[in-house]
Amino acid sequence: MIDKISTLGGYIHEYQKSVENPEAFWSRIAESFFWRKKWDKVLDWDFSEARINWFVNGKMNITENIFERHLFTRADQPAIIWEPNHPNDEHRVLSYRELFNEIQKFANVLINLGIQKGDRIAIYMPMIPELAIAMLACARIGAIHSIVFAGFSANSLADRIIDAEARLVITSDGGFRGNKIIPIKDIVDEAIENCPTVEKVIVVQRTNSDITFKPDRDIWWHKCMTNAKKENKAETMDAEDTLFILYTSGSTDKPKGIVHTCGGYMVYSAYTFKNVFQYSDGDQFFCSADIGWITGHSYIVYGPLLNGATSLMFEGIPTFPDAGRYWDIVRKYKIAQFYTAPTAIRSLMSMGQEYVENKDLSSLKVLGTVGEPINEEAWHWYHDHVGKNRCPIVDTWWQTETGGITISPIAGIIPTKPSFATLPQPGIQPVIVDGDGKELSGKSVEGNLCIKFPWPGMLRTIWGDHERFKKTYFSTFKNLYFSGDGVKRDEDGYYRILGRVDDVINVSGHRMGTAEVENAINEHPLVNESAVVGFPHPIKGQGIYAFVVCGSLSTGGEEGIKTSIRKGVTKIIGAIAKPDKIQIVNGLPKTRSGKIMRRILRKIAQGDYSNFGDISTLLDTSVVDEIIQGILKEG
Ligand code: PRX
Repeated sequence: MIDKISTLGGYIHEYQKSVENPEAFWSRIAESFFWRKKWDKVLDWDFSEARINWFVNGKMNITENIFERHLFTRADQPAIIWEPNHPNDEHRVLSYRELFNEIQKFANVLINLGIQKGDRIAIYMPMIPELAIAMLACARIGAIHSIVFAGFSANSLADRIIDAEARLVITSDGGFRGNKIIPIKDIVDEAIENCPTVEKVIVVQRTNSDITFKPDRDIWWHKCMTNAKKENKAETMDAEDTLFILYTSGSTDKPKGIVHTCGGYMVYSAYTFKNVFQYSDGDQFFCSADIGWITGHSYIVYGPLLNGATSLMFEGIPTFPDAGRYWDIVRKYKIAQFYTAPTAIRSLMSMGQEYVENKDLSSLKVLGTVGEPINEEAWHWYHDHVGKNRCPIVDTWWQTETGGITISPIAGIIPTKPSFATLPQPGIQPVIVDGDGKELSGKSVEGNLCIKFPWPGMLRTIWGDHERFKKTYFSTFKNLYFSGDGVKRDEDGYYRILGRVDDVINVSGHRMGTAEVENAINEHPLVNESAVVGFPHPIKGQGIYAFVVCGSLSTGGEEGIKTSIRKGVTKIIGAIAKPDKIQIVNGLPKTRSGKIMRRILRKIAQGDYSNFGDISTLLDTSVVDEIIQGILKEG
């Protein structure tokens, strides 16, 4: 088992060891896992070539480290508690033994379908236990799962299936979200029309919705599981074999397939889970993310289960049947650690205290946040009303790319400060550099957040595009991993994340490339061009502001066009990318070389109509005046 850091002195000591001799440090942690063959070398790396290999030639399987390793002591302990969308429906508890049985059976189903180690499987599912079973069964046989958040459109799903050349899609007939039923299978059907690599679709029955079932292609989950063989021996995986691909947005219009590997991800997700949340045996852990995002991968499934923890998986939304749902779940299952996004906190905060005030939250020990900066007001509300002034808040900074938490307090051990992610986890060596890549050492500095030494959980490549991997993360600043975030280190040496410095915006904790949204807007037949920037939004953190140039206006006028643009973006990407504000303009501010000056648009979107800095390269200043006049006219 992984030892927990238990004092501030212990953290300082561990951190120092992890920097002085990272290989010895990680080797010691990795030894607490089950390896079929031990590694020959702990680390082989070169950031200039974007080469990172951990636990070289080590052989293992992550599911063996979840099940076989824990079965002697935890067979009857709940592994996953599943809370359904509707509070009156039956919840489900899967013990380690039960979950293991399901995974072995489903692994055999996959094998019977001819799925082999290294094949890619796309999973597009609501938050039901079969989602976790499917992903772990993939890991069991060495197939690579690519989970796509079920809020993405058919078009986005198809892009991801095509990029990964997935042979199989696992899905459900529909999904419950509050009062709505989401037609999941219809979306999959539409997506697959353009995906020649997909041979079969496995469908879980969840909503009993009317669906089109293609007997030569579609297979019911419950039918293929009925006669599946019960035992399955885990495939031997190399530590550096791919465990999963997870797509995320970048500065271009094409999402990146972030690749994580078996050995390093296992060690890192498990280590950070145990330490950051200070998980103890018997605790029930609740992470409210969707498994379609990295937070769900690492802190609903892999991190907790590798530690033999009990993880709560919630199908629904925080406001159904009312805004007290999370607190009802905390009370019902006596949750010890609760992990959510600042957006959720802000949204619940705006609905009033009465939903949280009279709930028994005495089981809570630790609160966590992730995905975006947390403002002080939300931090205090969370601390006072949910944590009742006694639970430390871990504001965890990390990314799809980092695999696990990288800068964060250790609960109850590293003193917290509102809106600060505080200090690096052991093994993480952050550096702050200026625009020229010069390291800004010391305290009270601000700049670009980089990491100068590899850690086991970091991404290894971008699926199918190693050059892009190298260019995106290792060429902006020489020999450093560049996160894309701005950061400040204060007088105490604490880190405060300032947000993205690239063309990525963070809407409700969801990462979005401005280029992706622009492309979707530009698909509209009346749109000539567009520019998308983020702006401060009281609930979402950042909202999407689109400046759009139209060739002509349709009969519906400006409002008609705005509605159809929103519809178009929802169809092409998904509802999460729908612009909050659309302004129809005559032109965009451009440099003489034709580059859009986003800096100016960002200022305007923030409501700052001056302080544009150097505008000498601007081709036509009247464009800016026109945009501002347009806003003022609308009031
Ligand atoms: O900008 C940072 C922000 O979310 C980005 C990563 O998004 P994604 O890959 O979707 O992963 C989110 C969940 C790990 C980062 O580049 N971010 C994440 N956590 C924080 C944060 N910003 C401020 N504070 C955080 N705690």
